Amino acid sequence: MDIFRNKDSVLYSSLGEGESEKDDESSSSLLNSETSSQQPPRRNQRVWPFVLPWIVSTFALAWVSAYLYLNSLPPAQLQEHSYSTGWKTDFAPARSAISLEEVTFTGGPMYSENGTYYVPHPAAINYTADPSPELDRAWEELTWGRYVVLNEQEAKDAFEEKFGDVQQFWSPSRGGYISGFDMFHTLHCLDRIRQRFYPEYYVQEDLYTHRVHHLHCLEQVRQYIMCSGDMTPVPTRYNAARKHSYVDSDVTHTCRNFGQLRNWLSERFNGSLAVQPICPGATKPEMGSTSCVLDDDDDDNNSMEMGH
Ligand SMILES: *[C@@H]1O[C@H](CO)[C@@H](O)[C@H](O)[C@H]1NC(C)=O
Ligand SMILES: *[C@@H]1O[C@H](CO)[C@@H](O)[C@H](O)[C@H]1NC(C)=O
Ligand SMILES: *[C@@H]1O[C@H](CO)[C@@H](O)[C@H](O)[C@H]1NC(C)=O
Ligand SMILES: *[C@@H]1O[C@H](CO)[C@@H](O)[C@H](O)[C@H]1NC(C)=O
Repeated sequence: MDIFRNKDSVLYSSLGEGESEKDDESSSSLLNSETSSQQPPRRNQRVWPFVLPWIVSTFALAWVSAYLYLNSLPPAQLQEHSYSTGWKTDFAPARSAISLEEVTFTGGPMYSENGTYYVPHPAAINYTADPSPELDRAWEELTWGRYVVLNEQEAKDAFEEKFGDVQQFWSPSRGGYISGFDMFHTLHCLDRIRQRFYPEYYVQEDLYTHRVHHLHCLEQVRQYIMCSGDMTPVPTRYNAARKHSYVDSDVTHTCRNFGQLRNWLSERFNGSLAVQPICPGATKPEMGSTSCVLDDDDDDNNSMEMGH
């Protein structure tokens, strides 16, 4: 960026110092020494053919430089936002909870020299352990409270541009506009895929509906991974006993601090940051006011189950 500016200023200063002008003038006066005394007014006109190309080319270069410079800048939203401060697409009130940390992954399998398999750095919690109430609690710790109440302004800021009327996001039972956050939605999706490994433990009433959801979850995880674009290198190590190279995935990544985002979500769900419901039980709110259209047959209480 500065390179362009420097070029400009160099060109301007060389003209400003008047060196090229002087050279042109002196050379033209030398060339025209015979005629100049006879026709002094024409001297100035003879200077122009030398100076004008400099001026024109300088302005042209300055214009092209400025054009290239402005074109090379990212769009405004990419300038003021980042992975560490929160993108425009991140929920604005959550951005302050974003901070970066380096995390060394765990749980990668290794092969010893005799070819036997082991896990050198197991995670503190085995999220792929055999199903149990403790394991379900561990997954619940990650994902609980992932659908929170937004106030009207937050709903508009987040969704109006794309969806127009935000009343479609109103939940009568929750008394607010309801939104989840995609990391937690995707984590829950992954949990649903995990549960599918144990159909005898996680009994599913409606297998067809669940199949649709589980396939959606696979699609969600695929897109989520492709979106993250994490290019951390994972080395491979050759194992002579197995005559094959195996990846060592226990490497250090740059991550958004999960604990801080989890804490923010907890506070936002039912802690100090929670938005109070306007009028639970109402079919919909009057926009811009706190009055509600009351609805008698409210059986919307389980709607969050569908949010998976
Ligand atoms: C393979 O090596 C590991 C440690 O490197 C050892 O614990 C294990 O007993 C060995 N297994 C066999 C079959 O030799
Ligand atoms: C986690 O639990 C599963 C099921 O018991 C087991 O197969 C796996 O080895 C465990 N993973 C680690 C890293 O201990
Ligand atoms: C918030 O909700 C969770 C889950 O329902 C509950 O365990 C917790 O006690 C609640 N916290 C507060 C402060 O109400
Ligand atoms: C819905 O939930 C509210 C608050 O938890 C409760 O008062 C109401 O009775 C519930 N309605 C139904 C139909 O279950």
